[in-house]
Amino acid sequence: MPPEAAQRKQAGPEGIIIAGPDSKQWIRESMAEERKVKKHFLLVVLLAAMVALSASAGAQAPAAAAAPVVKTLAAPAVSGGMSLTEALAKRRSVRAFAATPVTDAELSQLLWAAQGITEPTKKMRAAPSAHNWYFLHVYVVAADGLWEYQPDGHKLLKVSGTDYRQTISMQPSVKSAPLSLLVVGEYGRAAQVAGEATVGRRFVDLEAGHATENLLLQATALNLGVVSVGGVDPVAVQKLVSLPADRTAIYLIPVGRAKQ
Ligand SMILES: Cc1cc2nc3c(=O)[nH]c(=O)nc-3n(C[C@H](O)[C@H](O)[C@H](O)COP(=O)(O)O)c2cc1C
Repeated sequence: MPPEAAQRKQAGPEGIIIAGPDSKQWIRESMAEERKVKKHFLLVVLLAAMVALSASAGAQAPAAAAAPVVKTLAAPAVSGGMSLTEALAKRRSVRAFAATPVTDAELSQLLWAAQGITEPTKKMRAAPSAHNWYFLHVYVVAADGLWEYQPDGHKLLKVSGTDYRQTISMQPSVKSAPLSLLVVGEYGRAAQVAGEATVGRRFVDLEAGHATENLLLQATALNLGVVSVGGVDPVAVQKLVSLPADRTAIYLIPVGRAKQ
């Protein structure tokens, strides 16, 4: 091939040389260079990924929410026992208690009497409530901590592992009882649904009276001693046991066996 023809073959449409003995060498070199750059780039990316991975592995994993501690209560008795008439005749406030513990079965029965579900379809409770609004919550103040009664499922939910029996009240009856029940009410929600704070408050207090009387009569029927302590400092109790904002302590009911 004449040299000009070979030159033309090497030249592109704009006359730029795209192939030729020297340019082949140049292409080989530049491709090798390109491969080197790519290799470096991949290495850098790989290293960066490894650093990011090890950093994320070393980082503090978000703490998983602790599973709630639940105590299932034995099914309560719904018939039998001391007659209501006899319990009414026998009920008396007891303020000094023996150290004998209240059994789980007794506790189950007391909680059911106060707020247990007695009509499962509408989840209606043992104590009456204005419009079925149910403003009350019952807590157990015990040696193994503070527990909230869940009427739905008839169980206890652990709120705290602290023993508040000596600190929740100044009254000797509470301090000497193996456990106390704390009745709290939702005054804020009551004001909202009743439309007026004073009406809402009255509804909550009346409901607390009903639930507490159920409890006192059930305790009497089980030959347990109780007293309804209304001398409660709601602000101090709220702070001490960290009650949710709209839960106000109304009644403390120490429970045990009367000290002989
Ligand atoms: C609203 C209310 C608040 C009460 N507060 C206390 C109290 O803080 N401490 C106490 O020892 N008894 C308290 N009691 C219990 C009464 O003192 C007791 O019911 C009264 O002396 C009648 O005796 P009885 O319950 O044996 O029939 C309270 C009772 C009610 C109804």
